[in-house]
Amino acid sequence: MSQLPADLDQAIVDLKKERNAVLLAHYYQDGDIQDLADHLGDSLQLAQAAKKTDADVILFAGVHFMAETAKILNPDRIVVVPDMAAGCSLADGCPGDRFRAWRAKYPDAVSISYINCNAEVKAASDYICTSSNAEKIVRAVPEDKEILFAPDKNLGRWLMQKTGRKMRLWQGSCVVHETFSEKKLIQLKERYPKAKVIAHPECEAPILALADFIGSTTALLKYTISDEGQQYIVLTEDGILHQMKKASPAKDFISGPPQASCACNECPFMRLNTLEKVYLALRDLEPRIEMDPQLREAARIPIERMLALS
Ligand code: 13P
Ligand code: SF4
Repeated sequence: MSQLPADLDQAIVDLKKERNAVLLAHYYQDGDIQDLADHLGDSLQLAQAAKKTDADVILFAGVHFMAETAKILNPDRIVVVPDMAAGCSLADGCPGDRFRAWRAKYPDAVSISYINCNAEVKAASDYICTSSNAEKIVRAVPEDKEILFAPDKNLGRWLMQKTGRKMRLWQGSCVVHETFSEKKLIQLKERYPKAKVIAHPECEAPILALADFIGSTTALLKYTISDEGQQYIVLTEDGILHQMKKASPAKDFISGPPQASCACNECPFMRLNTLEKVYLALRDLEPRIEMDPQLREAARIPIERMLALS
């Protein structure tokens, strides 16, 4: 790695100004990246921020599908990422060719795809959703229409319970959210009987069944702010704890228990991004998201449908 400035934070702030760049960061980023972000949020808020920005450069500190979404909404702006290898198990487990073959089996169905998918899957979908608007999008589909939901089976199952709609589910999952142990969560609840259990809908059904509140990362954060409780067991990626602790310093936050003793509630893709890589991406304007214009345009339509309904 080439020489780095001694004060990386200041160097990033200066470069942002020089490049007329905006830094978008997801809650699953390291705290030092979150603290430098111009917009910090969940997947929906970041897509909305990407649509609104008039910056020349978007530096997306998140994973590839998020930056790709920003490029789809901003074809004329430069979109850079700290690390091009920051993928997602949900997106990787749903390749475009297999998804199109699945869709083709149900030609009359409406297809809703979670934003955690690649552009090819988006282009072949009717609607995109995120964890914060998924219920609304499902309810917007006429009752007589069959729904195909991809790629997260856990979010899909939770939506079926909430809306009473039967959907065909792609069998994908998130490597972080499927790691939580039901047995250890029950033990933790016994140890901290006053703690509220809060979970992201990407968690498996037995975990969600034990939750006092289920929602997107932003919804979980808001809940911890407005709720009168003092202690929370948090079942999502650990990065969100940074904002929870900042917003409610007097409250106590306990990371959800993974099955093994590992750092498995840190997303291995999100955590590829570092402050050093953020600096280098801004300095070199690389690595850049580039897309085939036809694919980009086809993928834009279901994203715009989602944004219009959000
Ligand atoms: P939200 O940003 O919608 O909470 O989803 C979390 C996630 O897994 C992003 O990859
Ligand atoms: Fe994908 Fe899960 Fe990482 Fe989110 S936390 S980017 S869903 S692997």
